[in-house]
Amino acid sequence: MNTKSIYLDHSATTPVDPRVVDAMLPYFTEKFGNASSLHRWGQTALTALDESRQAVAEILNANPKEIVFTSGGSESDNLALRGVAMALRAKGAQAHIITTPIEHHAILNTTVQLEKEFGFEVTRVPVDRQGRVNPDDVARAITPKTALISVMYANNEVGTIEPLVEIAKIVKDAKSVKGHEIYLHTDAVQAGGYLPLDVNKLGVDLMSLGAHKFHGPKGVGVLYVRNGTPMLPMQTGGSHERNRRAGTENIPYIVGFATALKIAQSERESTNARLISMREKLVEGILERVAGAQLTGDPKNRLPGHASLVIPGAVGDEMVLGLDLAGIAASTGSACTAGSLEPSHVLAAMGYTADVARGALRLTLGRENTDEEIDYAVNAVADVVHKLRRE
Ligand SMILES: Cc1ncc(COP(=O)(O)O)c(C=O)c1O
Repeated sequence: MNTKSIYLDHSATTPVDPRVVDAMLPYFTEKFGNASSLHRWGQTALTALDESRQAVAEILNANPKEIVFTSGGSESDNLALRGVAMALRAKGAQAHIITTPIEHHAILNTTVQLEKEFGFEVTRVPVDRQGRVNPDDVARAITPKTALISVMYANNEVGTIEPLVEIAKIVKDAKSVKGHEIYLHTDAVQAGGYLPLDVNKLGVDLMSLGAHKFHGPKGVGVLYVRNGTPMLPMQTGGSHERNRRAGTENIPYIVGFATALKIAQSERESTNARLISMREKLVEGILERVAGAQLTGDPKNRLPGHASLVIPGAVGDEMVLGLDLAGIAASTGSACTAGSLEPSHVLAAMGYTADVARGALRLTLGRENTDEEIDYAVNAVADVVHKLRRE
């Protein structure tokens, strides 16, 4: 086994920043209280919860009451879709949902269940070759029954950033013309820490985030819920999180979420500049060294550290295993579908044939990567592909 250890799979997850660990640690031990308890121990935990909520709200330009802490991106996505859909249904209101075919499975499978088992009507607007939704298609899909629109902020497999602001404008116009309730949700799990998160500038009503994509811990997330958005809790119990998500709050992880987001936000510009420069070097190097390789997703309008390619004559999983032997962590696309024989639903929706999509490789950079690692990775990718192609 190679002694190199180069982690280029940051879209799957990131290492927790030591500053985040330091902030979390006291809440496991001396500050272990339950935020619902009246005594000092409880009040210390409640203060940490309130401060974390306040810090997240400031970054999102939201009211702290609009922040719901969850167990991660998947739960936030589920709560957004099910919570709003079920609340509207309880009021006897509309039942049409618009989404895209390139969403993460947390959205994809939730909309399938809402459609198949609960009778909601779901329209999936197409994406183009670069994975971009056309806002005009969203406009055309809106009917008087449309209640909920869910379009991801940035795609996990190909890094494409979606035109959310334009979509939000369409939703606003549709609401005023047709005079009915429509709520816009975005899965910002990949965007969190890298792209602007001001919910008012974005014009969204609901937004999902997960800490482990921006150097926070796994198992903690946020759902932003704009004031006035109808929502039924999906997990019932105590009155935590203003009756939107029952369960004793996970204070150390919530502190970890807020600390990681604050760090990512304050270092965003410098981090992004470095990530973009390393990504360009990586992509240019691979395209130069590997015949037939193509970048997938939007070449410019993409997540800063995200490189995704299709490489003819090489199978994604085999490249990932070859790179692992060379000391590099890579992926074929989504961590959730690794090992599955099905080609990526994202590349299929973008018009790639199953054959081409089998050659998918994703390399996603993080703030701890260096230029030397990128040089090594370019050589390693070229070597692995040459070996697989028996060149
Ligand atoms: C776009 C997107 N949405 C949702 C999720 C799920 O987040 P979590 O792992 O926090 O449940 C992921 C994780 O990969 C993701 O990339």
